[in-house]
Amino acid sequence: MKILAVAVLVLVPCLLPGAHAANHSHKRPFASIFSFGDSYADTGNFVSLAAQLIPLIPFNNLPYGETFFGHPTGRASNGRLILDFIADALGLPFVPPSTAKGQDFSKGANFAVVGATALDLAYFQQQNITSVPPFNTSLSVQLGWFEELLPSLCSSTAGCEDYLGKSLFFMGEFGGSDYVFVLAANKTVEQAKSYVPTIVNGITQGVERLIQLGARRIVVPGILPSGCTPIMLTLYASPNKEDYDRYGCLTKYDGLSRYHDDHLRSQIQALRNKHPYTNIAFAEYNRPVLAFMHRPDTFGFDGSSTLQACCGAGGGDYNYNPIAACGFPGATSCEDPSRVVNWDGIHLTEAAYSDIAWAWLHGPFAEPPIWTLASY
Ligand SMILES: *[C@@H]1O[C@H](CO)[C@@H](O)[C@H](O)[C@H]1NC(C)=O
Ligand SMILES: *[C@@H]1O[C@H](CO)[C@@H](O)[C@H](O)[C@H]1NC(C)=O
Ligand SMILES: *[C@@H]1O[C@H](CO)[C@@H](O)[C@H](O)[C@H]1NC(C)=O
Ligand SMILES: *[C@@H]1O[C@H](CO)[C@@H](O)[C@H](O)[C@H]1NC(C)=O
Repeated sequence: MKILAVAVLVLVPCLLPGAHAANHSHKRPFASIFSFGDSYADTGNFVSLAAQLIPLIPFNNLPYGETFFGHPTGRASNGRLILDFIADALGLPFVPPSTAKGQDFSKGANFAVVGATALDLAYFQQQNITSVPPFNTSLSVQLGWFEELLPSLCSSTAGCEDYLGKSLFFMGEFGGSDYVFVLAANKTVEQAKSYVPTIVNGITQGVERLIQLGARRIVVPGILPSGCTPIMLTLYASPNKEDYDRYGCLTKYDGLSRYHDDHLRSQIQALRNKHPYTNIAFAEYNRPVLAFMHRPDTFGFDGSSTLQACCGAGGGDYNYNPIAACGFPGATSCEDPSRVVNWDGIHLTEAAYSDIAWAWLHGPFAEPPIWTLASY
C-alpha cells in the first residue's frame, strides 16, 4: 500500500495536463518566422499587389488551393507550401503575407512575391533583359519592406536583437525567377551560367543585410532542377534524345540549377566563416525533387506522371500549355494530386512540399537541419 502511494505521488505530476515539466518540452523553438522569396514561398502578396493590374491571375482561381484551404489563397499550389508545413511543425501560425491588412506580424511576416528576383529590376533593365515584368519586388525591395515593418515589432536595439535572434529567417528560394527571365530573353544556358556569380552574390548580400539587422538563424534554399519541370520541358523541348537524361529531364537546364546550388553552397560556407555566431542552413530543392523523379514509389508518387503537371489543360507528355494553364478557364486538376509531384507545370503539389519540408526540418536535405537551429 505504502509503495503504491509513493508511486502515485511520483507519477501524478507527470500525468497532470499542462504540468510544468511537460509544458517545457513543448516550448516553441522560434519566436517568429520571416520569409523572403518568390512563388515557392508567396502566401498571398502577389495577388494583393497585382489585383488592380492584371485581369486574370491564375493562382487566384480554383483549383489552386483545392486540397487544403478549399479556396485560392494566392499560394501557387493545391494547398500548403513548405513554409506552411514548417511553421506548423514549429508551433507557429501560417506566416501571414506582409501585404495583409490589419494583421498582427509579431509571430512573423512573409514578404515573398511570385516572380521576385534576387537581382534588382534596374539591373535587368540595364542588361536589356526586358522579359522581366515591371513589378518591383526583388530581394532588396522585400528587405526594405521588412525594415519598414521592424519598428512595429521591436523597439530598443537590445529588444530587437533579442527578438530577431529568436526568429527564424528564410532567404529564398531566390534565383529561379532570375534564370527564367534570362532564358526568356533568348540567352543560352551557357550565357545564363555567366549570371550565376552575380545572382548568388545578390542572395548572399541579402543574408548579410539580415545579419546586420540581427538575424541569427537563417535558412537559404537553393533552386529546383528546372530541366525536370513541365514548363521547361515544353518551352525548351529538343529533337535530340541526347539532351535528356534517362528520367526524361533536360540535362543542360538541370546543370544550370546544380551550378547555381554549388556556387550558393560555397558562398554560404564563406558567410559561416565570416559570421561564426550566426547559424546558416543551406536547404535543397535539387536533391529531393530529383529523388522524386528517380524513385517515385519511395515517396508515394505515381511513376508514370513525374514529369506531368497535375493541373492544366495542356495534354501531351507534360500536360503544360502556357495559354491553357492551371487557373485558366477549362483547366482541371488530376484525379489524385497526392500522387503527383508537379502541380501546375512550374510549382509543386502540397504532397511534394510536405516531403521537402520534413527533410528540411529533420534532414537530409538541409545542412544543418532546421530543428538544430532552435533558439533555446
Ligand atoms: C505552456 O507554455 C505556453 C507558452 O510558453 C503558455 O502560453 C501556456 O500557458 C503554458 N501552459 C500551461 C498549462 O502552463
Ligand atoms: C524599386 O523600388 C525601390 C525601393 O522602393 C526603389 O529604390 C527603386 O528605384 C525601384 N526600382 C525601379 C526600377 O522602379
Ligand atoms: C542595351 O541596349 C542599349 C541600346 O540598344 C545599348 O547601348 C547597350 O549597350 C545595351 N546594354 C547591354 C548590357 O547590352
Ligand atoms: C527570342 O527569339 C524568338 C525566336 O527567334 C523571337 O520570336 C523572340 O522575339 C525573341 N525574344 C526576345 C525577348 O528577344
